[in-house]
Order: sequence, then structure tokens, then C-alpha cells
Amino acid sequence: MDRRSVKLAPSILAADFGHLSIQVEAVERAGADRLHVDVMDGHFVPNISMGAPIVQSLRKITALPLETHLMISDPDFFLDEFAEAGSDSFLVHWEGNNNLDRTLQRIKALGKRAGVVINPATSASVLEEVLPQIDQVLVMTVNPGFGGQHFLNITLPKVRRVRQMIDAINPACELELDGGINLETAPFAVAAGANVLVAGTAVFGDTQGVTAGMNKLRNSLKPAA
Ligand code: DX5
Ligand code: ZN
Repeated sequence: MDRRSVKLAPSILAADFGHLSIQVEAVERAGADRLHVDVMDGHFVPNISMGAPIVQSLRKITALPLETHLMISDPDFFLDEFAEAGSDSFLVHWEGNNNLDRTLQRIKALGKRAGVVINPATSASVLEEVLPQIDQVLVMTVNPGFGGQHFLNITLPKVRRVRQMIDAINPACELELDGGINLETAPFAVAAGANVLVAGTAVFGDTQGVTAGMNKLRNSLKPAA
């Protein structure tokens, strides 16, 4: 993967919500390619986070694409609400969805980009049938539910497999990784085939501020001189 073409998607889960607009402006200025919005319902994952009103507020303050990672039990019930609020794309899990094709069709009918997410213990092979019709695959590199966890190295062989499948079946499809992405792990993620990286703690938790966090992450992907 060409390191220069890697897109960065800061996850606002790790942002300071008291200063959300300031932090979003900072990541936008620092070259974020999109914003990643983690939606959790306390049921699909053992944590709750945010809903459509946050997307609506973000829509007013940024031109960045808003990608919505739905870690919720019944994504179909909420697609309309998030689309109306301003979501540009939806990332829906393979796990727990008995009608994934229907969910994807609904996303497409709303005119939005569709991505399928697989958890660390889920095989790449489940993607084969859906790959031709989706815009993104998101491979979780931690178990979903919390920011600030350690990148699971065991997921890297799977990332390489997904990259091969994408190249063979739908080369336009993006391969995004989510969880534990930082200065140390980002180069491995890209070497395995990722072209979009989600980062929460590494961006919003940087002790020198979010601009520094973004710059350090971008620099970690530059080839050594
Ligand atoms: C985890 C979320 C991630 C999370 C990443 O369930 O899907 O998007 O915000 O946070 P970091 O980058 O801190 O691992
Ligand atoms: Zn996420």
C-alpha cells in the first residue's frame, strides 16, 4: 500500500466533548480525511456512547465526511435518523446481523456509502459474498466497545487476506482498520494492506494536543529517508 495515499479518520470517541468543535476544527486543519463516529448501545457492545444529535452538531461545524460506525443491535432502525442528521457512510457489523444484505441495500437506497465490519475473531471469508457491493471493509484490531485498547497483532494475517480478496474482487473497496492505531502500529497496519486508519487516543489523547497527534501519526507513515 502506498503510504502517501493512506487516509486518516480520527475517532471522536476520544475527544474532549466540552471542546468538540475546537478539536474537530484542529483535526480538519491538520489534514483529517474524514471523522469516525462510534455509536454504541450498551447491548451489542458493553458500553454506550453517542447518537444522531452528535452527528447533527458535527454536520454544522465541519465539511469532513462523517462515517458512522454502528455498534448497535438493530442498525436498520437507526439508518434514516443518522442519514438525516448528516452521516455520509455507515459501517455495520457482520456479527449479529441475520439480514446483512438487507441492511446494505437500505444504506445504498439512502444514497450513502456502505461498509462491513468484522471483529477480531471473525474470519475474512465471511466477506466474500458482500465484497462486490460495498465501499469499505473495516477490520477491528481490538474488540469493539472501548477506546484506548492495545492493537491485536493476531489480526494482521487476516488484514493481509482481506487485502488479497479486495484486490481480486473489488479493488475500489477501502480497507480500514480500527482500534489501537498509533505511531508504532500504523506502519504495520499499512504494510498489511490498510488504506484507511481510524485513530482515537493517538490523536485526541496526545499530550501535546490534537494537531501534534495528527502530525505524528502522519509522519509515522512516511518512508524512512
Ligand atoms: C472501538 C471503536 C474505535 C475506537 C478507537 O470500539 O470502534 O473506533 O474509538 O479508539 P483507539 O484509537 O483509542 O483504539
Ligand atoms: Zn470505530
